[in-house]
Amino acid sequence: MGRFAALQAVLRARIETADDVLFAEPLNRHLSPLGWHLAHCVYVECYWLREVLAGDDRITRPLSADAWPEFAPKAGRGARLPARDRLLAWAEALQAENGRLLAAALGGPGRLLADDYLLHFLIGHHVQHLETIDTARVHAVLARPEGYVTPHPLFPCSPEPDLRSVAAGTYRVGADAGSFAFDNEGPARQAMLQSFAIAGKPVSNAEYLAFMTEGGYGRSALWSTAGRQWLQETGAHAPAWWKRGRDGEWHGATATGPCPLAPDAPVTGVSFHEAEAFARWADCRLPREAEWETAARAGLLEESGQVWEWCADLFHPYPGFAAYPYDGYSRPWFDGRHHVLRGGSLLSAPEVTRPSFRNFYTADIRHIPAGFRLAR
Ligand code: AVJ
Ligand code: FE
Repeated sequence: MGRFAALQAVLRARIETADDVLFAEPLNRHLSPLGWHLAHCVYVECYWLREVLAGDDRITRPLSADAWPEFAPKAGRGARLPARDRLLAWAEALQAENGRLLAAALGGPGRLLADDYLLHFLIGHHVQHLETIDTARVHAVLARPEGYVTPHPLFPCSPEPDLRSVAAGTYRVGADAGSFAFDNEGPARQAMLQSFAIAGKPVSNAEYLAFMTEGGYGRSALWSTAGRQWLQETGAHAPAWWKRGRDGEWHGATATGPCPLAPDAPVTGVSFHEAEAFARWADCRLPREAEWETAARAGLLEESGQVWEWCADLFHPYPGFAAYPYDGYSRPWFDGRHHVLRGGSLLSAPEVTRPSFRNFYTADIRHIPAGFRLAR
């Protein structure tokens, strides 16, 4: 419960300290105004604790159009937000009461309350919104007018992946018995894998720069049909988390300001299409998620948890999947358009870095801290 209360407070603190524009306006069509995330998280708490558990929809009924994502287009999310002071006061009062309701309910009857499920679900939900908030803060820095001079420029370096082999076999993947997992992590299953090799580290900034300087974006044979179309539409030519400085060199950003790109650090801010094209250029492929998880469980993956790592697979239900606690958490995204990402990023909370956790975004998404590692 302490963790939950701390998260509620961190979410409010992020909104309290956000600049006025970021509070009320989306930075781009993929992001929501930061104030919306707080309203949404409060809504989700109230939905489960008041409407579902207690049959009390006085808070949620009038709010659902604004706070529940399925019914709230990102574009309109800012205009319907209350003033920041009112939102914060509203959130603080409701969240304090929600914390008490949750503490009192846990251990009660039913699956939602057994093993503190609802506590873990709400923590797992809120940390993902916190990561999105922190992602938006990085993009706000990247969007600032350019005044930065890179202290040490990045030099390209050919990829030489340190591949680690895994023997063919049947490996257990998916939710660990006895600990919290989202519905899409289960049921655990036996995955039959051919022998494969997977890189010990994600592709680095210096390696990605080599792909760029050797014309990777211009070599259409490296790109899938969808990737070529995406390239044409976006004109992408470098990761979304990279920016050219006043000196013409590439640099990166954190929420507090611009920063150099460490040559060995994982490249961040690439789409599935870019990851796939790079892998083809390097005579490799992207790992399948069962391979990634098997390698992670075997302790073969270094530097996991620095970037979300694109996998080859589309996000799909495991055999025997059952939606829980609501259909909308996973099922709408088993749509043949979302790809799986594994591992977690530097902006992730520990609650989403377990080996079975599955993140999912469409192949064009690159505003998130996503990178990849090679496999063969
Ligand atoms: C799995 C991170 C794509 O943030 O949209 C949050 C998680 N689901 N609220 C998202 C989620 C419901 C989701 N991602
Ligand atoms: Fe949500």
